[in-house]
Amino acid sequence: MRTGVGMALIVTGLWGCSASTAEPAAADLQRAQAMRPRDSHLAERYERSCMLCHTARASGAPLTGYAPHWNARLAQGMALLQKHAADGFNAMPARGQCNDCSADDLRALTQFMSAKEAP
Ligand code: HEC
Repeated sequence: MRTGVGMALIVTGLWGCSASTAEPAAADLQRAQAMRPRDSHLAERYERSCMLCHTARASGAPLTGYAPHWNARLAQGMALLQKHAADGFNAMPARGQCNDCSADDLRALTQFMSAKEAP
């Protein structure tokens, strides 16, 4: 019985710190790869820039549509996320390597990727 309680605490502890480093399941990755902005102008930009990293687990980028990767970032405010999208942030390149993305495009793409549903 003692061992059981110990295991439960360890599992709870792991869950507690996995919020921002959660590993997406295969279904989450498939869903991310299938998601597109409804707007064709945005979808075209998304497909040639953001998508390359934000649907690939190895890139370290928060996965499109996967809430555990976005919740802590969203808690800092959309304004900061937009600034990081425009200026870059660690391995996130400035403008997400989308040189013809306007500020509005970057905002819309950030909202799209961080939302659970396509806008
Ligand atoms: C070359 C790969 C790459 C591309 C292309 C890319 N991103 Fe990222 N992005 C990243 C990585 C890696 C991170 C995580 C950076 C970190 O948290 O250290 C990230 C993080 C972000 C964040 C979260 C920033 C924060 O404050 O937490 C936003 C917003 C974002 N990207 C938007 C975009 C948008 C919009 C595009 C397309 C226009 C895009 N990214 C294209 C790699 C990329």
